[in-house]
Parts: sequence; structure tokens; C-alpha cells
Amino acid sequence: MQNNPLIQQQLEAWIQENKGHAILGTTAQYIPALGNIDPSLLGICMVDEDGHYYCAGDTDKEFTLQSISKALTFIALSCHYGLEFVLERVDVEPTGEAFNSIIPFEIHRPNKPFNPFINAGAITVSALLPGPTSQKKYEYLLSFLESLVGHPLEMDQEVYDSEWKTSHRNRALAYYLKEANFLEIEVEEALDIYISQCSIKISVKDLALIGLIIAYDGYNPITKVKHFSDEIAQVAKVLMVTCGMYNSSGNFAAHVGIPAKSGVSGGILAAVPPKLHSQTYEFRAGAGIGVYGPAIDATGNSAAGTMMLRQISKEWDLSIF
Ligand code: DON
Repeated sequence: MQNNPLIQQQLEAWIQENKGHAILGTTAQYIPALGNIDPSLLGICMVDEDGHYYCAGDTDKEFTLQSISKALTFIALSCHYGLEFVLERVDVEPTGEAFNSIIPFEIHRPNKPFNPFINAGAITVSALLPGPTSQKKYEYLLSFLESLVGHPLEMDQEVYDSEWKTSHRNRALAYYLKEANFLEIEVEEALDIYISQCSIKISVKDLALIGLIIAYDGYNPITKVKHFSDEIAQVAKVLMVTCGMYNSSGNFAAHVGIPAKSGVSGGILAAVPPKLHSQTYEFRAGAGIGVYGPAIDATGNSAAGTMMLRQISKEWDLSIF
């Protein structure tokens, strides 16, 4: 089957309509290498179960995964050690606090970090990745991601260096984790893995494919490869709905209703499960979506990207609720 030209035209029109919403945000200034990026960029890519890609806007710009990596590290670790092992070490509760807040971790002691998407939980998960050194742990994650997207990936060294030098809050969080016996490795090693995973370069096309695999419970309907179990995908989607867009997760669930994970680079990974009873034709067999709009709002999510997903979900009836 051919690509549907109407879907393509519609996405291009929505890019134009939503580009202006970038003024509702700014690029992430606390990581200098992200602060310098053009805030007006906006790109989207959607892929369906037959492998049709619909890409519109600024889709050739790569960006770093940032917090989107947290969902993928959670999946990779769960694949290796099993879900039970991971959930013994991080909870699945939203916090209502900023993603890098120390408060929820302090309150929750001596149990475990609230969820793997806040920084305390993410650093805990990253440090547990298999491998004897931080480099090997990072390489384990990288090859897992490469197996999902089907080609080599690399790190943005400038973003890594920029974050490494300014990561005082994450260092503080990692010291808390170490003091509470959540980190078996050294603080600097844990930070190295965490910042490395946040600095992996990705495109909206790759994000769309990963979103499709999550939507299909770990199965890639294009290559017919099963990458991870239904149970892992289910918990990943629960986390994406409840914590994936941080303190906007409730609003995002209400107005968009698609499991998603954002990053301060302005990327959003979204997984649209099949909805065969939908009244609309577009993507009723599910889809993966990758969005990039580097101007982020106060909660850390792409301002224009969120608005565009809201429009797409409403027009094409993609909400899971
Ligand atoms: O640790 C940080 O602050 C960044 N590397 C990632 C934060 C992030 O992407 C939160 N997302 N919205």
C-alpha cells in the first residue's frame, strides 16, 4: 500500500499552525549546549504498522534523548533482569514535584525512588544496567537502542560535556542515593552513564519507530521482531501516562491521551496503541510518533510539540481513554 497523501498534507498543515506556539517556551537554559539551539524548530514523524512514515517540518535535525532515555533504560533493564527486579528498586508513583527535585526522594526514604522517570529513579536504574564499568553499562543500553532502531547511534559529546559540568543537582541526587544504599557504583560513574544516555542523538523518525514498538507491546510489526515482553511494555505505558510528561501528565492525559515521554531537548516519544473501534480511519491500527520542538514550557515539555499532539489526537481520535 502507498503512503496516504492526505495524512502527509494534514501533518504539514498542522506543523505550520503549531509552529507559533514555540513562543510559549524557551530552550533548556540550564544545559548551555541546549540553550543555544534555535527555539522555532518543529518537526514530527509518524509511522504506522505497515511501515509508512509521514514526516513533516524540521525532521532532519537530530537532538538528544534527555529524559526520553529514562523510559528506554527502564525497558532495557527490565528486559535483562525482569520487571520484578526493577520494581523492587523503583516505584511507579507520580510525585507532583519537578523531575529533578530532591524533596520526594527525601520524603520517600528509606523505601525507593518514586518512579524511574524522575532523576533520582532514573540514576538508580542507569547504575543497575549490566556491565562492570560505566562505559560497558552505557554500551549495553546503546546496543539495545540500536537493535530497536536498526542502525548505529552515537552520543553528542558537546551536550555531554555541557551537562557534565553543570549537573550539580544530579550530583546531589546521586549522593543522596549513595548515602541511602541505592547506588552500588560510585556517584561519578552513575552520573557518567546517566548523562551519556541523556546525550544520545536521535531523530523524530527513530522516535516514531520506538513509539510504534512500545504501542505494539514490544513487537515491531514492520520487521516482525519481538523486542520485549507485553508486561514490560504495559508498565512502560503506565509510567508514560502517569509520569511521562512530568507535572503536565494529568493535563496531557486529558487533552492528548497518548502514552508519551518528553525530554528537555524538546523531543517527545509517543506510542499510539491500536483502537479498532475508532470513528476515524487514520492510524486506527496504532502508530508511533516522534516530535521535536526545542522550546520547552515550565514543566519541561516541548511547548509547540504538546499543542500539536493535542490537535492530532483530537482530530484523529487517538486518545486511549
Ligand atoms: O538530568 C537532566 O536534567 C537532563 N539530562 C534531563 C532532564 C529532562 O529531560 C527532563 N524532561 N523533561
